[in-house]
Amino acid sequence: MSKIDVTHVMVEEHKLILRMIALLENNVTRMEAGRFRDWRFFLDAVDFIRNYADRFHHAKEEDVLFKALVDNGMPQDNSPVAAMLLAHDQGRGFVRAMEEGAHRALDGESGQIPVIAENARGYIALLRDHIDKEDNILYPLAERVLPEAPRAAMVAAYREAEARTPGLEDKYRRLVETYEQQAAA
Ligand SMILES: [Fe+2]
Ligand SMILES: [Fe+2]
Repeated sequence: MSKIDVTHVMVEEHKLILRMIALLENNVTRMEAGRFRDWRFFLDAVDFIRNYADRFHHAKEEDVLFKALVDNGMPQDNSPVAAMLLAHDQGRGFVRAMEEGAHRALDGESGQIPVIAENARGYIALLRDHIDKEDNILYPLAERVLPEAPRAAMVAAYREAEARTPGLEDKYRRLVETYEQQAAA
């Protein structure tokens, strides 16, 4: 019998995160070309990243998946898990700076376009690289090395995290869809 899968759901969440990242990249380019002034979009992107990518998805990684890897022999320090945790943290810095730029722009302060663009691009590059490493290296490694024993409890812990924030996934999927439709119009 094959083992219970503990990463497929995480790969699926990456897909929604990557869709928001594509929107962010597209809108940054349009902003720099003078064709996009919807500062609210950047605050919505910050909201998505904080609540969906970070509090929801990264929390499942940090509290369940990475924890299981460490419990099953992966070192905590100088390890793939340590590198992933560092990237989660670096992402938070870019997001804070992007949010501040968008707030200032909304308040009518000039000169915020380069601030928003630089931090958005920093986040985009960081997260694409991060997701690529998880999808192609760390998650496949997790499927290979994690024994069967903890897997059912891991899936239950994912479900618990989802149940703590009912409707969150739908809300953020709709947000991404709304901006995608806007971009296509
Ligand atoms: Fe991650
Ligand atoms: Fe991830």
